This record gives sequence, C-alpha cells and structure tokens, in this order.
Amino acid sequence: MKKCYKCETKALVYLPQYRIAFCKEHYIEWYLRRLQHTIDEFKMFKKEDKILVAVSGGKDSLSLLDALYKLGYEVAGFHIYLGIGDYSEKSRVVCEEFAKKRSLKLYIIDISQYLASIPKIDELEKRPTCSFCGQIKRYYMNSFAKQNGYNVVATGHNLDDESTTLLLNILNWNIEYLIRQKPVLSEGEGFVRKVKPLLKFTEKENAIYALFSDINYIEEECPFSKNATSIHYKKILSLIEEKSPGTKLRFYLDFLRKLQPHLKEEKPKFMACTICGEPTVSQVCSFCKLKERLSKIL
Ligand code: AMP
Ligand code: FES
Ligand code: ZN
Ligand code: ZN
Repeated sequence: MKKCYKCETKALVYLPQYRIAFCKEHYIEWYLRRLQHTIDEFKMFKKEDKILVAVSGGKDSLSLLDALYKLGYEVAGFHIYLGIGDYSEKSRVVCEEFAKKRSLKLYIIDISQYLASIPKIDELEKRPTCSFCGQIKRYYMNSFAKQNGYNVVATGHNLDDESTTLLLNILNWNIEYLIRQKPVLSEGEGFVRKVKPLLKFTEKENAIYALFSDINYIEEECPFSKNATSIHYKKILSLIEEKSPGTKLRFYLDFLRKLQPHLKEEKPKFMACTICGEPTVSQVCSFCKLKERLSKIL
C-alpha cells in the first residue's frame, strides 16, 4: 500500500477512480469535505434547516447521520420498524445504539401499530413487497417530518443505488422516473424537501467511513430484497467499474448535468387526501386505500 496523499503515514484506503490513497484520519476528512461540497453544489440545505435523516440501520444511512452531525447540521434520526422478523429487530437495535452513543435524537415508528407488519401485508398484497414497502416508507417520512417540524428528509441512497436505478430507467425508457431522478426534490404542495446527500459515494466508500468512525451497522440485506432485479444490474455496473474505475460516477453525474435539465416535469395536480390530509392525485391517497383494504381483512 502507498503512502497517504496528505501525510507520511501508510495509507489504509486506495480509491481507484480518483487515484488517491488515504490514512484513516485523512479519509474521514476527505469524506466530510466531499459531502459538504455535494450539499452546497446541489443546494440541499443550510445550517438553519431541520433535517430528518431516515435510518435503516445500514452503513449508508448511519454514515450519513454521523457525518451530518459532525458537519454541524441540526439532525435527528428516523427509523421505521417494519416487523420483518430478526432483520427488523437487529436494524432497530443498531439504530438505537448508534443514537445513544452520540446522544442524538432518534424517532422510531412501528408500522404494525398503524397498519400491519410488512410480512403480514405481503400475504394480502399482490404487488411486489419492495414496491408497497417503499410506498409506506415514503408516506411516513413525509408525514412524520411535517408533523414534527422537520423541513428536509435525507436518505442514504448511494452512487451504486442511483447509477443502478438510472441504468434500469434507461433500459426501460421510464421517462417519468428519469424526470424525478434528482438529488433534490423540492418542497411544496404538502411535500417536504427530499435530498440524497450520498449520491457521489459508493457503497464501499460509505462502508469504509462507517468502519473508521466506529459505526456498528447491520450487514444483512432485507430478506425480501433477495429477488430484486436491481441486484443483477448492480453487479453488472460493478463489473464495468472494476474494468474502468469512475464509470458509475461519470454515468450518473453526466446524466444530471447533460440530460436532466432538458427533461420537463409536468407536475400532476395534488390535493389533500380526504382521510389523512397527505398530498394525493385522487380524493383518497394510496396509503389510506391500502389501510382500508387491510382493515377489511385483518
Ligand atoms: P433502500 O431502499 O433500502 O436501499 O433504502 C434507501 C434509503 O431509505 C436508506 O438509505 C434510508 O435512508 C431509507 N430507509 C430504508 N429503510 C428504512 C427504514 N426502515 N427506516 C427509515 N429509513 C429507511
Ligand atoms: Fe421493504 Fe425489504 S425493506 S421490502
Ligand atoms: Zn494521512
Ligand atoms: Zn390518506
């Protein structure tokens, strides 16, 4: 291993796409500086904003909460307990331990108290598990943030997630999704601002940050995600990345710079759901419709 790019110490990490190597201390410094630069570049939020960081218990979202806290932002964690057996139990515990160690505020909601656990809903819903689970998570992130005075929701989506989603959206020419594939979704019409500050960091880079920052996280994947098609495409992109380091970053950032600005968003007309008040395109939102369907069976 080479020497650190910044000091005389032996480097512990080599980042092939940038051709630089760092010791532990300078890797953390590089990570925080790059994160701050991304937040400023995309005008994500300022020091006066109140940010709710959605934490799953994985390396990305916990690293994000840790780093934003270190950068001096007003942050709190938000964990949605999904009731997926051992996986959810472990996820909740790591989030709690993480917050306790740093004296950070952490909110936890248990969806089975309002709806039902994900495995229970899965028995009754025909849609793929990840699709209704994602819908439920997005619903709670928005409504919880609003009700508790947070104006920004930050998620831990990383470069691997974003470049894979981009590849899938292009392969299927999902123009509607491409239009909305942005690092910042502005607030308005009942929505809080949603941001993805880790868009320039790979899964690996977040894992190294977590390791160097003593963050204990859950390594297991959700048992329902094993069949997700995206895993296959993620692997393909990683193979290309291995041959040509920097491809993922270029692929995604060039999309944002060169194509995104030309895509015109035709926003649907939003109204307040007649049951819960959350934004929707029809009288009753899809979350309340799901809740109603479930209440008839459960
Ligand atoms: P995923 O869709 O599982 O890759 O997660 C993407 C992001 O959504 C994570 O980085 C978190 O910010 C957020 N997230 C996922 N699961 C949860 C959860 N159970 N509770 C809170 N936030 C979550
Ligand atoms: Fe939602 Fe796995 S976390 S289906
Ligand atoms: Zn160094
Ligand atoms: Zn509703």
